[in-house]
Amino acid sequence: MSIYGKTVLVTGANRGIGQALVTEALARGVQRVYAGTRRSLVHSDQRVTPLRLDVTSDAQIRAAAEEIGSLDILVNNAGVALYDDLTERAALEQSLAVNLFGTWGVTQAFLPLLTRSAGAIVNNVSVMALAPLPLTPAYAISKAAAFNLTQSLRALLAGRGVRVHAVLTGPTDTDMTRGFEIPKASPESVARAIFDGVENGEEDIFPDPMTQSIAEAWRTGVVKAMERQNAAFVTDRAAA
Ligand SMILES: NC(=O)c1ccc[n+]([C@@H]2O[C@H](COP(=O)([O-])OP(=O)(O)OC[C@H]3O[C@@H](n4cnc5c(N)ncnc54)[C@H](OP(=O)(O)O)[C@@H]3O)[C@@H](O)[C@H]2O)c1
Repeated sequence: MSIYGKTVLVTGANRGIGQALVTEALARGVQRVYAGTRRSLVHSDQRVTPLRLDVTSDAQIRAAAEEIGSLDILVNNAGVALYDDLTERAALEQSLAVNLFGTWGVTQAFLPLLTRSAGAIVNNVSVMALAPLPLTPAYAISKAAAFNLTQSLRALLAGRGVRVHAVLTGPTDTDMTRGFEIPKASPESVARAIFDGVENGEEDIFPDPMTQSIAEAWRTGVVKAMERQNAAFVTDRAAA
């Protein structure tokens, strides 16, 4: 799928990777980018339409879906990461509310438009979906759940012509990783790699040097094989 001429919605579009995704989408010649943010946003490019969208608000999700007439690509990028040690239920609830239920709610609301356009869903998950960093375990749990959601949606929506991509992002230099003194990719390079992955039809996108080093092992590994095997049940049932 080429990004050129498409209509794209990015959640969490005001900073970090989301902001870089808006810039990259514009550079690739999109027709329109809906920039979903919790606060008001002003953008100099006429092709950007700011959209008030707290992904934990059913009312804002509904209003956003009513405002948009057509959509080719939904990028579920909004996310929150908290330091915790799993002693407080609140950290788990907040992480799940944004990273899992936010992704689910926005996806369900825009599914009719994405089905009509035979579009794509891109979930910015995290490599922590595969292995937690126990400094942010609630975050990792929510991302593992969001990744599993992505895998099921991929199988369930294949018959409707909607492609579903997971982005297994590694350390990226944004507010989220402030204070972590580790090698980080730039948000701009991650945004480029995400849209490259969509254009190349990669269902799991590894958008930075750290995660690219495990991409091949993941794609040829036992877990991926099981995902495909399990997904075939859905296709076989639909055919029957
Ligand atoms: N940075 C990394 O190393 C890394 C690695 C793996 C995955 N990721 C994922 O990449 C995505 C973007 O992260 P980032 O690094 O760009 O982080 P960031 O700079 O902290 O940006 C997070 C974005 O999400 C938005 N957001 C948070 N809660 C929201 C809500 N309830 N509704 C709507 N928007 C909300 C924030 O909006 P406000 O400005 O209003 O708070 C902000 O725009 C996240 O899903 C994150 O988990 C990041």
